[in-house]
Amino acid sequence: MAATSKRLLLSDLISSDKIDQVPSHYIRPLSQRPNLQDVLHDSIPLIDLQDLYGPNRSHVVHQIGRACRDNGFFQVKNHGVPESTIANMMEIAREFFRLPEEERLKTYSDDPTKTTRLSTSFNIHTEKVANWRDFLRLHCYPLEDYMHEWPTNPASFGDHVAEYCRSARGLALRLIEAISESLGLDRDYISRQLGNHGQHMALNYYPPCPQPDLTYGLPGHTDLNLITILLQDEVPGLQVLRNGHWVAVDSVPNTFIINIGDQIQVLSNNKYKSVIHRAVVNCQKERISIPTFYCPSRDAVIGPAPELVCDDQHAVYRHFTYGEYYDKFWNRGLATENCLDIFTASSST
Ligand code: OGA
Ligand code: NI
Repeated sequence: MAATSKRLLLSDLISSDKIDQVPSHYIRPLSQRPNLQDVLHDSIPLIDLQDLYGPNRSHVVHQIGRACRDNGFFQVKNHGVPESTIANMMEIAREFFRLPEEERLKTYSDDPTKTTRLSTSFNIHTEKVANWRDFLRLHCYPLEDYMHEWPTNPASFGDHVAEYCRSARGLALRLIEAISESLGLDRDYISRQLGNHGQHMALNYYPPCPQPDLTYGLPGHTDLNLITILLQDEVPGLQVLRNGHWVAVDSVPNTFIINIGDQIQVLSNNKYKSVIHRAVVNCQKERISIPTFYCPSRDAVIGPAPELVCDDQHAVYRHFTYGEYYDKFWNRGLATENCLDIFTASSST
């Protein structure tokens, strides 16, 4: 048994040990467990982006605005990312996680400041209870700054992932324009606040779990970035907090799930909410999810848009650099669900 505790990755720990019980450091205290029997099943808005650049643009923009305000989560179809690009991305992720341990471990690091790294849980230095997840995190904009760091096995990793990143970025930019417009701001207002822009992604691997009611793939959190574009395989696992209830969101083929992150909440001065969500695991099937996190560059200064600050709605947040926010987020280890409170106008830190 002693040898197993030295395993770095969850997937290798369980494949070496044929675990039929969740190891104790993955077990949540009673009050924090997922209570899977209480989860509701419901849908989130599905928005067709087909008409985004036609005469019906204002209708699509309105739908996006309403979904951002009321749900914080929506799905999109006719999003412009080719099916083959999506299929190649998913396949290469699956192949990567099937590589022998020593091959995958070439990119292993526990250091959240590393721009390419394979790791496990969330931040093993700051968290008390571990999460049932391994993940490969990549920075991916500008591509030429980071691609040389990426895994070279499987051989087509770089090509397929780069193609996916370019296409996902195009979608992110279209959505950001529409969100900006839906707030009554110039179409390029939000884009101009993002400095040189940034894009990160995660390849999340959630192995089957013998006792999914004791632990999480990812516990409840909001995303710190601007917007997230989530690609997932056919295995359910994403749940969204709505009116105090957890709602399971099933995956629909060839759609993406889009969610608003903390930076849109700040820029919109709380008009749009960064919604708490989590990933749960199951005992039968591994699950892969691939979020693209579109974000400001580290030096970009983020704060509420002046047009959205008025006598009735004072600036809820102070201005900060995205780098400051990013470092706070990673250091708190998902111990609190939301990092935004530290950046309100009335806070002193
Ligand atoms: C995330 C996330 C959800 C999922 O990586 O931030 O929320 O379904 N993932 O994997
Ligand atoms: Ni998330």
